[in-house]
Amino acid sequence: MYRSHSCGQLRTSDINKEVTLAGWVQKTRDKGFMIWVDLRDRYGITQLIFDEERTPKDVVEKAKTLGREFVIQIKGTVIERESKNKNIPTGEIEILVRELNILNESIVPPFTIEDETDGGEDIRMKYRYLDIRRNPVKNSLMFRHQVAMQVRNYLSQEGFIEVETPYLIKSTPEGARDFVVPSRMNEGQFYALPQSPQTFKQLLMVGGMDKYFQIVKCFRDEDLRADRQPEFTQIDCEMAFVEQEDILNIFEGLTRNLIKEIKGIEIGDFPRMTYDEAMKIYGNDKPDIRFGMKFGELNTVAQHKDFKVFNDAELVVGIAVPGGASYTRKEIDKLIDWVKRPQVGALGMIYVKCNEDGTYKSSVDKFYDQDDLAKWASTTGAKAGDLICVLSGPTHKVRAQLSALRMELAERLDLRNPEEFAPLWVVDFPLLEWDEETERYHAMHHPFTSPKPEDIPLLDSKPGDVRANAYDLVLNGNEIGGGSIRIHDKETQALMFDHLGFTPEEAKAQFGFLMDAFQYGAPPHGGLAFGFDRLVAILGGQETIRDFIAFPKNNSGRDVMIDAPANIDATQLKELNIKLDL
Ligand code: AMO
Repeated sequence: MYRSHSCGQLRTSDINKEVTLAGWVQKTRDKGFMIWVDLRDRYGITQLIFDEERTPKDVVEKAKTLGREFVIQIKGTVIERESKNKNIPTGEIEILVRELNILNESIVPPFTIEDETDGGEDIRMKYRYLDIRRNPVKNSLMFRHQVAMQVRNYLSQEGFIEVETPYLIKSTPEGARDFVVPSRMNEGQFYALPQSPQTFKQLLMVGGMDKYFQIVKCFRDEDLRADRQPEFTQIDCEMAFVEQEDILNIFEGLTRNLIKEIKGIEIGDFPRMTYDEAMKIYGNDKPDIRFGMKFGELNTVAQHKDFKVFNDAELVVGIAVPGGASYTRKEIDKLIDWVKRPQVGALGMIYVKCNEDGTYKSSVDKFYDQDDLAKWASTTGAKAGDLICVLSGPTHKVRAQLSALRMELAERLDLRNPEEFAPLWVVDFPLLEWDEETERYHAMHHPFTSPKPEDIPLLDSKPGDVRANAYDLVLNGNEIGGGSIRIHDKETQALMFDHLGFTPEEAKAQFGFLMDAFQYGAPPHGGLAFGFDRLVAILGGQETIRDFIAFPKNNSGRDVMIDAPANIDATQLKELNIKLDL
């Protein structure tokens, strides 16, 4: 038996017990006649004491050779500590060691295994197995497990069945590039790794599974950000015989249950907002509604004077920054520089200080009088003491710019409290999205999403106006899930492929299996997928998903620990019949 107890287990009630512990040496303190060792495992830290008077001499000598991260086993007696540590659960006891067994030595680790480590991100990623020994990472992984268990329990109780779908498949269009895998047995041919199990879950509905879920890896070759990894995990779900309302209710229930069970916070009905409203009020389809700073559209109250910049703009829009009237000229100039950064891309920013005495001072006083500015204040909801920031330009761009500014200011003003949870549904997404690069329409969600029946006649005349039965679940300004009611008949699916620019032959080659399946009694169905990593990160009070993934990739998509991707040897290439021309 390697151990009788864990390193987080023993208390004063265990005093005088003979115990065996095993773990890693966190640190040693050698006072000559006495040595203390902090022994660590996943469950906690227990202090060991080697005492010249009470511990055999050879054991004390051996203890002097211990270094950080040595793996040891000890036998000893639980005793009361002289100087107690109230900060840890085992802080009132220590183990008077009688036997020491060094199970494995360790070379000096490249960074300290402590909550506040001296190791930078790169080095910690390279030695991720050591990073995982640290509490913050270990706790995040345990937290992830807890959320996964809760999800599985909840969905099982609701009658969902977890079904595994294959990883070696062919392209599932979710808007990113595929990772491909060459096939040895089928020369010159490739599998694609799933961007999601979308088509399979729909086939499971045709197969009568009725309620499916899967906590599943998805693979997308796309540019990485804090909330994106090339391989990530979804809670993928699908249901038959449902309408949008049924889906929203079920998954609102799941989300509410998670927030309650994991965070102990009760949330009422989730607000719903159409895509159009979200864009108009927050300039964003994933608004953070924990704070205000709603957009006020100012065209009617700002385009009647000689200010050409505003008069020429498609949209003039502002937000009221709470307390911003006290910003100095320098601070405001910095804010203007911030919106002009290429990542945001505004050409400039107009501002109005709403003074405490009820007067206004703006950067465009030459054009606008106090009455004009009072109207801007009422449209943006600005109060005395606030600063109104106004941007103008093409609607699409200007909304994105002001939304970026709103989020930045909220961050600076500490309005994004990670322990507050503000979910909402964004519904009625457009079916299609114009892509400047390819000069054609793309499916905004994916090509299997059903248009709103009443909008189908617009498909030919105004394709951009057609709304979909598609919805996103947004939590604290992050898209944590998205889904839709699917097309379940062959004709509508063919019509969609046609509008997406597929010839019937191309559609058949890529998705013939789905169109075929639809001929055998496909039930009406729909579903949604949560970004599991994102959900876990946000519940954990963070937005960087990497911290909640055991072995994440870096920003260039590399695993720096195992050094992947890597070259493969000539024999392997030959077997796969791949010729590299580098
Ligand atoms: P969608 O593409 O919206 O929908 O993906 C669902 C959710 O997955 C998360 N997500 C990601 N998380 C981390 N890294 C990524 N690269 C990444 N990409 C997406 C997001 C997103 O909301 N098959 C459909 C779902 C459906 O229609 O049922 C789908 O995959 O949180």
